[in-house]
Amino acid sequence: MLGLRHYRGTAIDLFQGDITSFVCDAMVNAANSSLRGGGGVDGAIHQVGGPSILEECVRIGRCETGDAVITTAGRLPAKKVIHTVGPIWRGGTEGEAELLYSSYQKSLHLAAESKLLHVAIPSISTGIYGYPVTDAAMVGMKSIKNFCDDKPQALRRITMVLFDSETYKAWQKALFTCFPEAEGDAT
Ligand code: APR
Repeated sequence: MLGLRHYRGTAIDLFQGDITSFVCDAMVNAANSSLRGGGGVDGAIHQVGGPSILEECVRIGRCETGDAVITTAGRLPAKKVIHTVGPIWRGGTEGEAELLYSSYQKSLHLAAESKLLHVAIPSISTGIYGYPVTDAAMVGMKSIKNFCDDKPQALRRITMVLFDSETYKAWQKALFTCFPEAEGDAT
């Protein structure tokens, strides 16, 4: 299978395209700590989702790096948006990997707590924040796998929505490394 695994009751797959047109329950945004929008996927989510998302972000105030908050999805094809703040890449000696790992963990836990069973996630921190995509994909996929080990069957599907082929290939490699073969559900 090109990019699909079943693990502990959760389907983990990859999709190349624009996350703002991807139908899901929870759409994860690569935000910044101010929660006031920006470029990249943040800009697209606010633009397509409309002003109701920013209104809720302003009420929340801030989100620390490695953390996640949840708002309405406005006009997006999702029930909610989960805004997470990934680390800015500073060479890898400032705890970037731990913070990136936490961004995925917090986003997945928030989705599960809110019973948002299909989560779509972009490649956090690998755009404007400059995190090398090969390393980021391995950190993200390990975080996804460890979430599924901790919370089997908590989510029905986790889809990485990747904007370009280089990013898609990096995540495909991470998927095959973390889940060496297409396997039936362990449960
Ligand atoms: N759909 C899916 N992925 C997208 C989209 C989109 N519409 N637009 C961009 N991407 C991809 C980028 O190509 C990259 O692979 O999302 C990944 C993350 O890139 P950024 O959006 O730049 O996010 P990040 O690197 O985490 O930087 C966050 O950028 O937009 C600002 O306010 C944001 O300050 C924050 C910073």
